[in-house]
Amino acid sequence: MNKKRKRLGTQAVSSRCYLIDKDEEFRSMRSDGAILRRFSAFIHESSLNPGGRHVTSCGMSSGISSDPGTDGGPHDRRAAPVVSALGGRPIVLVGMMGSGKTSTGRRLAQRLGLGFVDADVVIEQAAGMSIEDIFARHGETYFRDGEKRVMARLLGEGPRVLATGGGAFMNAEVRRRIASEGISIWLKADFDILWRRVRRRTTRPLLNNAEPEQTLRRLIAERYPVYAEAHITVASHEGSHDDVVDEMMAQLESFLSPPDPHQALAPGKTNTGKNVSKLEKIGVELGGRGYDILIGDGLIDEAGGHISRLAPGAACAIVTDENVAKHHLPALERGLDAAQIKHAKIIVTPGEGSKTYSVFERVCDEIIKARIERNDLVVALGGGVVGDLAGYAAASVRRGMRFIQIPTSLLAQVDSSVGGKTGINSPFGKNLIGAFHQPSLVLADTGSLVTLPAREFRAGYAEIVKYGLINDPGFFNWLEASWLEVFAGGAARAQAIAKSCAAKAGVVARDEHENGERALLNLGHTFGHALERVTAYDGARLVHGEGVAIGMACAFRFSARRGLCSAEEAGRVTSHLKTAGLPVRFRDIADWDASAEQILDAMYQDKKVEHGALTFILTHGIGKCFVAKTVDPLEVLAFLKDELNAGP
Ligand SMILES: NC(=O)c1ccc[n+]([C@@H]2O[C@H](COP(=O)([O-])OP(=O)(O)OC[C@H]3O[C@@H](n4cnc5c(N)ncnc54)[C@H](O)[C@@H]3O)[C@@H](O)[C@H]2O)c1
Ligand SMILES: [Zn+2]
Repeated sequence: MNKKRKRLGTQAVSSRCYLIDKDEEFRSMRSDGAILRRFSAFIHESSLNPGGRHVTSCGMSSGISSDPGTDGGPHDRRAAPVVSALGGRPIVLVGMMGSGKTSTGRRLAQRLGLGFVDADVVIEQAAGMSIEDIFARHGETYFRDGEKRVMARLLGEGPRVLATGGGAFMNAEVRRRIASEGISIWLKADFDILWRRVRRRTTRPLLNNAEPEQTLRRLIAERYPVYAEAHITVASHEGSHDDVVDEMMAQLESFLSPPDPHQALAPGKTNTGKNVSKLEKIGVELGGRGYDILIGDGLIDEAGGHISRLAPGAACAIVTDENVAKHHLPALERGLDAAQIKHAKIIVTPGEGSKTYSVFERVCDEIIKARIERNDLVVALGGGVVGDLAGYAAASVRRGMRFIQIPTSLLAQVDSSVGGKTGINSPFGKNLIGAFHQPSLVLADTGSLVTLPAREFRAGYAEIVKYGLINDPGFFNWLEASWLEVFAGGAARAQAIAKSCAAKAGVVARDEHENGERALLNLGHTFGHALERVTAYDGARLVHGEGVAIGMACAFRFSARRGLCSAEEAGRVTSHLKTAGLPVRFRDIADWDASAEQILDAMYQDKKVEHGALTFILTHGIGKCFVAKTVDPLEVLAFLKDELNAGP
């Protein structure tokens, strides 16, 4: 027993926990006699270790590595500060099957002098069968449920290196827990590497099908945008594991190093220790009302400096929503405090429901109540909803105040924060009340996107695709090839944002008040807005960018039907949007029901209706969109009917 105890070490998972495992993590397996016997054997072999914790002594291969103390402790002199900065949190490795989580995880644990746990092995032990068998007997949902419970427990058991199964991080609850209780590292490998590593293995339940290669590609497409939410990303390459672990150590040191407010910023760092990507600056050329869009990581931390340069001595009213306030308001306030900028904050409920008269009234009143004067600033910190609402309040209070956009959603960074359209919704339609009011500065902090939910990220991506489809086929080609990198973050993402902002800035400079070219930016929006309206602006069913994605696919299909563009081009657009995880058909919207007549009726509420005629953006192909004002509503109705009846 003692020998076994020593082999498993004091980092071992306690049998108390396995009892909980049995009871809670894989409850329904009790009905299976063989497994129950396996469980009981497993439990009875457990005993209390000298430190009062239970140590399992079962003979199964353990997912728990030896106590580092027994084999010489940490092997890296940089370990102690990293472990101390972890403050008891585990390091959680996420990534696809074959990315090397177990092999690099063990080495990282050894370097740090910590224990190593492979969550999959713990699950197999708890269930008394292989993951493949759990999948085969009980299905994936059942496995994920057990996995969630196992993860919840493992995360609470102190500092160690924890390798997770490829799907664990896809669960929003698990992700939230990892974000708050651990430090996550995404081991990112590209398709070729993964395929080489996993193609011959037969123990990967998700790949045990007729088309493993396509399945792997699909999993990459689905998972990478979500894995990108991990705190740290490290490339898993064909080099030695030790190189990868070196990179992990370096990134951990950088991520965990406390900011020193007394020290000048090291080159390439913000005062939060984040890496500063190259700062992009794009001008919106509107003469006296022109302004800059700055794009880069860490801009929220630095906003105080930018604001005091723009408006020395001015106070700020920050308008934000609850979600964004939680993640990013403290950093903004710290920066404003450091720059000695007086500020008030107005926090609204997240979502389209805040673009109403009543919330608008509240925001205006609170700006006035906080004694924010005419020469002060309104700061919109958030997505398009906050930007439109705060911008309209800025346009209205004291007959117009200056305002700054700090967009935190992808959609707001690439679209709504630029161009000066502000407004709220009327019960009769979207954005029907509003004003053109240009911001004085746009600070697009790409780092803020780390906390943006994956669904919202995808929705914003639809607006990026829009710029390629309107008049830049080269950009669309690039997106088709690079969308995974855009989703994963880093330089490609910043590049896509900058490219989109530059496109929008150009259009706005040429046609600020939408008398011509600017209407092209509404590609997909006549359909999209109607869909938002018939789903009652209910973000649970459809968010703006998703409506735009369906709308763009419809605009291309409608154009193809009228012989304006080829069916192949329409298919290519649909296929790219779909690959990026966006909806492209009416049927992709869950839980709704509207007739073609109702959708058409909703289109007539659009503010682009002129003399009772609908305006559409149609296309001669990718990059060849144009404004169409003479579309016969009966033709639209017939198209809508066919779309509603379209099969899978
Ligand atoms: N003014 C314009 O030119 C223009 C252009 C396009 C869209 N819009 C408007 O923009 C709105 C849609 O914008 P949106 O998609 O940004 O919606 P949004 O503002 O509702 O944001 C989407 C969700 O993401 C959350 N969020 C935002 N940033 C976050 C972050 N960094 N971390 C965590 N959560 C975050 C928000 O709280 C919200 O729940 C619509 O009202 C649309 O009409 C305006
Ligand atoms: Zn839009």
